[in-house]
Amino acid sequence: MTAPVPKSRLVFVLNGPNLNLLGKRQPEIYGHETLADVEATCREAGAALGLEIRCHQSNREYEIIDWIHQAREIAGGIVINPAAFSHTSVAVLDALKTCDMPILEVHISNIHQREEFRHHSFVSHVATGIIAGCGTQGYVLALHRVARLIGAA
Ligand code: DQA
Repeated sequence: MTAPVPKSRLVFVLNGPNLNLLGKRQPEIYGHETLADVEATCREAGAALGLEIRCHQSNREYEIIDWIHQAREIAGGIVINPAAFSHTSVAVLDALKTCDMPILEVHISNIHQREEFRHHSFVSHVATGIIAGCGTQGYVLALHRVARLIGAA
């Protein structure tokens, strides 16, 4: 029997539009941590889980799609908060459909307690798991799940 090929421990953490304003934008909903704080926490959590973390944020749909295409070639998992693109983007959904790896969708807020247009997420159609309403801790919870699924923890 041949040994199983180890899956990549590289995990992409992708954040969509307006999340560059974390800490300043509606802190009563999204909290006071900045995106830099969240990314640093993800790197720390990743290191403890034996994962290499690559973080990207963009307000442009095509950049998110390009990073998903990169991830499909080199990564073992994706943690994504598509932000408003969750509710609008078939293109992000289609890009994620090309990725054969765990995909964890994160929302800082509980989208189901908010306006009705936030209740549907295209990304949820392909997500392995969904974490919503756990604040920025949701990213760390998602990384634990990815690590478990790729056998790194
Ligand atoms: C969000 C929820 C989305 O509805 C919203 O458009 C965001 C952030 C969240 O993290 O709670 O920008 O994805």
